[in-house]
Amino acid sequence: MCKCKAYQNYWLLGHILMLVIRERRHQKNRGQNLSNKILLNAVKAFSPLKLRLGGSLQDMLIYDTGDSGQPCTPFVKNTSAMFGFSQGCLPLHRWDELNAFFQKSGAKIIFGLNALNGRVPMPDGSLGGPWNYTNAASFIRCTVNKGYDIHGWELGNELSGSGVGARIDADQYAADVINLKHIIDSTYQGNPSKPLVLAPGGFFDAAWFTELVSKTRAGQMDVITHHIYNLGPGVDDHLIEKILNPSYLDGEASTFSNLQGILKSAGTSTVAWVGEAGGAYNSGHHLVTDAFVFSFWYLDQLGMSSKYDTKSYCRQTLVGGNYGLLNTTTFEPNPDYYSALLWHRLMGTTVLSATFNGTNKIRTYAHCAKNSEGITLLLINLSGNNTNSIYVTSNGAQTQSARKEGRRFSHIPGLGEAAELTREEYHLTPKDGNLQSQQVLLNGKVLATDANGDIPKLEPMQVEGTKPITVGPYSIVFAHIPSFYAPACR
Ligand SMILES: *[C@@H]1O[C@H](CO)[C@@H](O)[C@H](O)[C@H]1NC(C)=O
Ligand SMILES: *[C@@H]1O[C@H](CO)[C@@H](O)[C@H](O)[C@H]1NC(C)=O
Ligand SMILES: *[C@@H]1O[C@H](CO)[C@@H](O)[C@H](O)[C@H]1NC(C)=O
Ligand SMILES: *[C@@H]1O[C@H](CO)[C@@H](O)[C@H](O)[C@H]1NC(C)=O
Ligand SMILES: *[C@@H]1O[C@H](CO)[C@@H](O)[C@H](O)[C@H]1NC(C)=O
Ligand SMILES: *[C@@H]1O[C@H](CO)[C@@H](O)[C@H](O)[C@H]1NC(C)=O
Ligand SMILES: *[C@@H]1O[C@H](CO)[C@@H](O)[C@H](O)[C@H]1NC(C)=O
Repeated sequence: MCKCKAYQNYWLLGHILMLVIRERRHQKNRGQNLSNKILLNAVKAFSPLKLRLGGSLQDMLIYDTGDSGQPCTPFVKNTSAMFGFSQGCLPLHRWDELNAFFQKSGAKIIFGLNALNGRVPMPDGSLGGPWNYTNAASFIRCTVNKGYDIHGWELGNELSGSGVGARIDADQYAADVINLKHIIDSTYQGNPSKPLVLAPGGFFDAAWFTELVSKTRAGQMDVITHHIYNLGPGVDDHLIEKILNPSYLDGEASTFSNLQGILKSAGTSTVAWVGEAGGAYNSGHHLVTDAFVFSFWYLDQLGMSSKYDTKSYCRQTLVGGNYGLLNTTTFEPNPDYYSALLWHRLMGTTVLSATFNGTNKIRTYAHCAKNSEGITLLLINLSGNNTNSIYVTSNGAQTQSARKEGRRFSHIPGLGEAAELTREEYHLTPKDGNLQSQQVLLNGKVLATDANGDIPKLEPMQVEGTKPITVGPYSIVFAHIPSFYAPACR
């Protein structure tokens, strides 16, 4: 499972660009670029981080490739236009600057293409007619000619199902995805790296998604992407209660499970990604979606989506809004940045079945360890009072066939198999015990970049294998158990 961070929209595209420009000015005037360094280091630390460029305004964006016959002007606020802005244009020099940053930071790019070009209103209220891909095709061609590596091209944003702002029928969308695939195949002919085709980058709707899957053949759509804002609007004053409520968190499982079912029964090779998820829409909520407490939601989502075979999870946003992984002005990482980084480094791609017998306030996920022996557990304690501990044991493992996700184990009092050996633990708690803190402690020490803007090392503590794992009140623990033998991890 990989993590991928979404850029909120073209504000951010503009944001990054401004940064590039500001950096130059700094270098000329003051020779200083600290904020840039944090941003660069934050992206680099994932080696690689997937970045999605997209959002509402991607369907209002044209590319200055010379075929549009229109001047290349930026977005302008216009309350009567769809999404509140007039059409905007991406100048190629901006594209060059962005790609320079992507190359320097080693990011893998998913670019969201404008899927509304050429559409006309249909009698049923949707937009229809074939996608006019002329501008998109020339942009892709130009990107290839410049040698810029793109990990995936995604068609459209939130146009599936009943749509957000506008909607397109699944039948038409399938035809457009197939056209995108043709464009990519012909443009990348003879090119060793072929990018992924992703669609539709919208909210899950079982009938619509089923139709899209059934009308695209194997290999025409590599990834089906859906968006998640299951906590409701950011202005909600009860977000924290929702986040700490296990039943509320469980509510999203049905979406993952339905989508997994659709892909399975179609027998397709298309895989599922969460293409964008910020939890609470309309930009989240300051001191909730950018504070420690949000890691409960975020890590739980990463764990849950992986269980249902989701291959990537794009967090809204890297920078921007109230749900950024980085502070919008200083670029200092918020707690979720470190949660994402630990997940990225410790949790392998093979998901194991994990159960916790006891209170539902303990959330448990287990994967084969990443690039290492044994397994990694993610344990989340949503409870704020009383105390107990977790012993890890295996359960029925020898009798079970080593299905990919079939390893089942539970946590019971008693000594684990790995009693003699040590394990590595990473305990995350909020500064001063304040769930709404924007600073997180790792094993009791605050995580912050240093004077050079370097991302801190994330050092575990070594714990004797005989000791139970204690997950403090309102805290999160990653436990890497190198000596835990799980057949699925060989
Ligand atoms: C920032 O400036 C330093 C020199 O002061 C330079 O080494 C570094 O590469 C610059 N970082 C970026 C992101 O341009
Ligand atoms: C498609 O868009 C291009 C501009 O990118 C335009 O020149 C062309 O006329 C459009 N095609 C149709 C059929 O409208
Ligand atoms: C704003 O958008 C509306 C609807 O698309 C359009 O008719 C109008 O010309 C736009 N105004 C400006 C100033 O661009
Ligand atoms: C960004 O960091 C500064 C300094 O710590 C803080 O005052 C500000 O509230 C943060 N901004 C956001 C949006 O979290
Ligand atoms: C854990 O719970 C499951 C089902 O609730 C049960 O089958 C299993 O025996 C329990 N394991 C232990 C060790 O209590
Ligand atoms: C512990 O939490 C429960 C529910 O969250 C609450 O009813 C109980 O009063 C709390 N106990 C203490 C000692 O705070
Ligand atoms: C979770 O936190 C509560 C305190 O609220 C504590 O009593 C409990 O033991 C913790 N659970 C684990 C597994 O450590």
